[in-house]
Amino acid sequence: MPCDHSFSGCEKEGLYKAIFSRRDVRAHFLSKEIPTEVLARILNAAHHAPSVGFSQPWNFILIKAKEIRQQVKNSFIREREKSINMLEGDKTKQKMYMSLKLEGILESDINICVTYDPTRFGPFVLGRASIPETGVYSVCCAIQNLWLAARAEGVGIGWVSILANDDLQNILSLPSFVRPVAYLCLGYVNEFADKPDLETTGWLGRMRLEEVVCFEGWGIHKNESWEELLEAICKAY
Ligand SMILES: Cc1cc2nc3c(=O)[nH]c(=O)nc-3n(C[C@H](O)[C@H](O)[C@H](O)COP(=O)(O)O)c2cc1C
Repeated sequence: MPCDHSFSGCEKEGLYKAIFSRRDVRAHFLSKEIPTEVLARILNAAHHAPSVGFSQPWNFILIKAKEIRQQVKNSFIREREKSINMLEGDKTKQKMYMSLKLEGILESDINICVTYDPTRFGPFVLGRASIPETGVYSVCCAIQNLWLAARAEGVGIGWVSILANDDLQNILSLPSFVRPVAYLCLGYVNEFADKPDLETTGWLGRMRLEEVVCFEGWGIHKNESWEELLEAICKAY
C-alpha cells in the first residue's frame, strides 16, 4: 500500500501560490463586497489553525460600521505621529515613512480584530504552562490561515499594528483580560504586487534564505553534513 500523503502537483501549486503571492495590502481596495459565503470560508480556515492544548483562544470581531472604523483610524493617526517623532534623528527614513500608505481602515470592505482570550479552557491549558506566549502564537497561526485563505479567494488583507491596544480595548469593548492581537482590513483589490511594498519602496529587502537558516546551533551557517541542503537553499529563488 502506498503511504504517500503528499498533495497532487496541482494541489501543491495552489498552496505555494497562496503562500508566495500573499501580500499585505493597504491601497487600491475595490468597492465590491466580500460575499457572505467567502467570508465564512475564510473565517473557518482561521478557526482550523493549530492552537496550544487545542485551546482555540481566538475571537474574530467583524467591523463594518464607519463610526467604529473612524475611531480606529484616529488611533492610527495618533500612533503614526509618534513613529514620525521617533524617526526625528533620521530625516531620510522619516520622510520615507511619511510617504508610505500603512493602513486601509476606511477604504476596505470589512475590518476584523483578532483577539486572544487567555482564560479559554483555562487556567490550565495543556502545553502552555511553561511558555505562556504559546497562547498568542496560536492566534497568529489563525491569522496566517485567514490571510492565506483570503489570498486564495482573491481577497486582500492589510495588518495594521500602528494602533494603541488601549484604544482598541475601549472602542471594541474588550474585557480587560482579552488582548487584541491583529487589526486586519479586508477587501477585493485589483492586484497583488509581486513584492512587498516595503521592498519596492526601498525600506527593506528580503533577506536571503541562507542568512536565516542555521545548522546545529545559533549562527552556524555552514556545516559539512548539511552541504547539499545549503546548496539547494541558495538556489531557492
Ligand atoms: C505583525 C504585523 C504587523 C504589521 N503591521 C503593519 C502596519 O501597521 N502597517 C502596514 O502597512 N503593514 C503592516 N504589516 C505588513 C508588513 O509590513 C508586511 O507583511 C511586510 O512588509 C512584508 O510584505 P508582505 O506581507 O506583502 O509579504 C504588518 C505585518 C505583520 C506580520
